[in-house]
Amino acid sequence: MKDTFFITTPIYYPSDKLHIGHTYCTVATDTFARYKRLCGYDVMFLTGTDEHGQKIEEKAKEAGVTPQAFVDRIVTGEGGILDLWKLMNISNDRFIRTTDDYHVTAIQRIFRKMYENGDIYKGAYKGKYCTPCESFWTESQLVDGKCPDCGRPVHDAEEEAYFFRLSKYAKPVQELLETGTFLEPASRVNEMINNFIKPGLEDLCVSRTSFKWGIPVDFDPGHVVYVWVDALFNYATALGYMNDRYDDFDHYWPAVHIVGKEIVRFHSIIWPAMLMSVGVPLPKKVYGHGWLIIDGGKMSKSKGNVVDPYLLADKFGVDALRFFLLRTFPFGSDGNFSNELLISTINTDLANVFGNLVSRTTAMTEKYFGGIVPADREADPMDDELIAMIRSTRDAYQKQMDVFQPHLALDEVFKLISRANKYIDETSPWILAKEEEKKARLGAVLYNLLEALRVSLILLTPFMPESCGKAFAQIGTSADAVSWEAASVYGVLPAGTKVVKGETLFPRIDAKKMLEELDAVMEEQKKAAAQKAEAKTELPVTNAKPVLSNIPIDDFAKSDMRVVKILSCEAVEGSKKLLKFKLDDGTGTPRQILSGIHAWYEPEQLVGKKAVAILNLPDRKMMGHDSNGMLLSAVLEKDGKEDLHLMILDDSVPVGAQVC
Ligand code: MSP
Repeated sequence: MKDTFFITTPIYYPSDKLHIGHTYCTVATDTFARYKRLCGYDVMFLTGTDEHGQKIEEKAKEAGVTPQAFVDRIVTGEGGILDLWKLMNISNDRFIRTTDDYHVTAIQRIFRKMYENGDIYKGAYKGKYCTPCESFWTESQLVDGKCPDCGRPVHDAEEEAYFFRLSKYAKPVQELLETGTFLEPASRVNEMINNFIKPGLEDLCVSRTSFKWGIPVDFDPGHVVYVWVDALFNYATALGYMNDRYDDFDHYWPAVHIVGKEIVRFHSIIWPAMLMSVGVPLPKKVYGHGWLIIDGGKMSKSKGNVVDPYLLADKFGVDALRFFLLRTFPFGSDGNFSNELLISTINTDLANVFGNLVSRTTAMTEKYFGGIVPADREADPMDDELIAMIRSTRDAYQKQMDVFQPHLALDEVFKLISRANKYIDETSPWILAKEEEKKARLGAVLYNLLEALRVSLILLTPFMPESCGKAFAQIGTSADAVSWEAASVYGVLPAGTKVVKGETLFPRIDAKKMLEELDAVMEEQKKAAAQKAEAKTELPVTNAKPVLSNIPIDDFAKSDMRVVKILSCEAVEGSKKLLKFKLDDGTGTPRQILSGIHAWYEPEQLVGKKAVAILNLPDRKMMGHDSNGMLLSAVLEKDGKEDLHLMILDDSVPVGAQVC
């Protein structure tokens, strides 16, 4: 029976589209999974989505849909997470969603188990509470001592909650971290011990009552399970732990978890403690990789610098992108992403170094031997170094892959490829080809090149599965010749094999042109982010305009301002600021406008009143509702606060009259 290998990615939050950072983590894990399959392991590769929690609940409210509909769109919708993994050629064996029924049931059982064994108990959660927002905040989350959401005062409050006895596990967790290679890279071990364990591990609050979008505690349904408890156990429930959906937990457990550095704490402290509590063997390893950053900082939607993997895959091809991510950045450290680096890596390593070996070797085999691998071959001592590398590269590569250093494993392959390219120059096949009596020598040279290429392709396959498949077809390899065993053997390709020079796998990229295209996309993104930020800050402050410089009277006349009558008015669910109005604007069709004036008016105060609205503004969506225009208000700042008055008109003014 084959040895098993269970590897996981973190499960991603479907609160937004995934970006290149998430893609990096999944591509790396996929490459390790493919590598282990190549080595002959029975691999289980798991990924999925972490779908509960307050953030998702809020985002769904903003979008005006249910949380389930919201996550469904991001996970299974067009251009969503499943599509992205398909595009990136991710070979996961299983995909878990924490909203899957079997997972929900299992989490309820697990929570109950820890409650019954005394590791979960009921206590009180203390924090700063904002009554209008119904939210608890920690001291550090407050802005100037006030609610970070609405800016209003907060007060000390307590709420009933369940706690997990994390403190009880401080010692065994510290021992686990200090011995062996459970957590890597080693630098993360000190970080965990010094920053979290030494200052004292406190019990962890593992239930919430302030929102609903989570797994209910079945014996106390007002509580939902803390999202990290729900999420971490995915690694076990996806194999059938505490549920009947799957039954390969005993077969595949324990896991190797690949995670980003900021969630190492959850995986190396909380996760083992909970597993100790339920009596499950600990994971084999947690590897905390670095982040992809931009210009030295975090990618963020508000900065407009989030890099879209769909765009890059479209411009450069999936394999080139996969390769770049793992070739360029040491896996345990942060890496500065840039389009320049991406293009130069593709041009240098793939188009030039690798592409040259593929195209020159296949072209010369075609040209000098009609594409047939020659049987008649004359060796020479100058071949020895290359042949030795053909035999030894696999083991050097394996050493690096086994310690999660894909960039160093690729270094080994590229040493072989570069050596083979140098061998072409040293042996000058085009000169040998001029003399018939050198035919056997030429045969050996091309054979050695084909063998170097074959071994390189086997080792590159986990990184670039599709392109390597195409290149294998060009050198006519059979399944035996591409096995792990065949990757350290010289002389596998049989004489008589048909070699065909195929399409160029990685064409050279016109860097200037491509950078212009990508910069233009980024500029658009940044502009959109800036506009969004502006709209956000405008929204709560009503519709007032800042004082601007003089404008021509014609510009003013472009605004179509009309008298409207308020037919109905209601608060927008999930928003503290917005009111939704139905208005009679004189056209006979009611018009809908949203306005951020709830802090000053209750809906019933406004129904039946006449007001002024600008009608010819672009339609926009606010919290998932259409808004077709803007109601005018008068605003004054008083003691640092906005004092707002909707412009309400005398009832005698006719509806539809133009304000000029
Ligand atoms: N849902 C949790 C994980 C629960 S696992 C039981 C979560 N999700 S996440 O979507 O925010 O992040 C998922 C992974 O993506 C994390 O490992 C995180 O480090 C990784 N990345 C997010 N941005 C990243 C970069 N810019 N660069 C590299 N990886 C990054 O955390």
